[in-house]
Amino acid sequence: MKIELNGKVALVTGATSGIGQAIAQTLAGCGASVAVICLADVEQGAATVRAITEAGGHALPLRCDVSDAASVQAAFAQAEQALGPIDILVNCAGIDGAAALSWEADAAAWRKVVEVNLFGAFYCAQQALRGMTARRSGVIVNITSVHEAIAWTGYSAYTSSKAALSMLTKTLAQEAAPFGVRVLAVAPGAIQTDINKAVWSDPAAMADLATKIPLARMGQTREIAELVAVLASDVASYVTGTTVFADGGMTDYPNFAHGG
Ligand code: BGC
Repeated sequence: MKIELNGKVALVTGATSGIGQAIAQTLAGCGASVAVICLADVEQGAATVRAITEAGGHALPLRCDVSDAASVQAAFAQAEQALGPIDILVNCAGIDGAAALSWEADAAAWRKVVEVNLFGAFYCAQQALRGMTARRSGVIVNITSVHEAIAWTGYSAYTSSKAALSMLTKTLAQEAAPFGVRVLAVAPGAIQTDINKAVWSDPAAMADLATKIPLARMGQTREIAELVAVLASDVASYVTGTTVFADGGMTDYPNFAHGG
């Protein structure tokens, strides 16, 4: 089966690196025109756009700070003017913040994580849903994390933002369903990207991580990107309001393989 997204327009946040970059490339490979959202300047997205263009796809880099509602509004206006109405929104922009016990955390840093991970997705979804509900078609995929369900010492802002994004997904899905619009989430486990380089470049940390994953390895960005393409396509036309976990079994609690 081939995933066909020909003629579709996708907007991907966090598309300059890691999982978001792979998603942008994969959606373009399936035929979608892709607005590649870059935080600081469009040069950041050059690698993503070049890879898409070299593979024969179509991409447009756009500067946008997802934590700023006005910036999001401007980016959507530019994307829709250049590419047409947005059919697929992937909210992948995310930060985990500096590790700190909650009672020692810097409140401004905590707020920033929530502003990017939760408000950012909300602002983008608002823009996208106005058009999608009017046209009675569209899909939003929010990238959460296994940490929408698993607590993580030192990362209370991150876990809280991802749990909230999961419930935002379900509520948006309920609101948008009467208009034929789907909203769902993908929760990656430990996917090998820059965000967790400290882990995969340290053999002891990797060995510890492997004990937390039944499949005993990190995932690769392709394993998330291709899932997102399936879920964004009509193959998944009956899937909405839920989170699909792609985590090698991390949320299957491997410690319970023995004892209990
Ligand atoms: C984090 C990664 C981490 C993974 C599993 C993700 O949400 O961004 O740094 O490796 O969860 O704990």
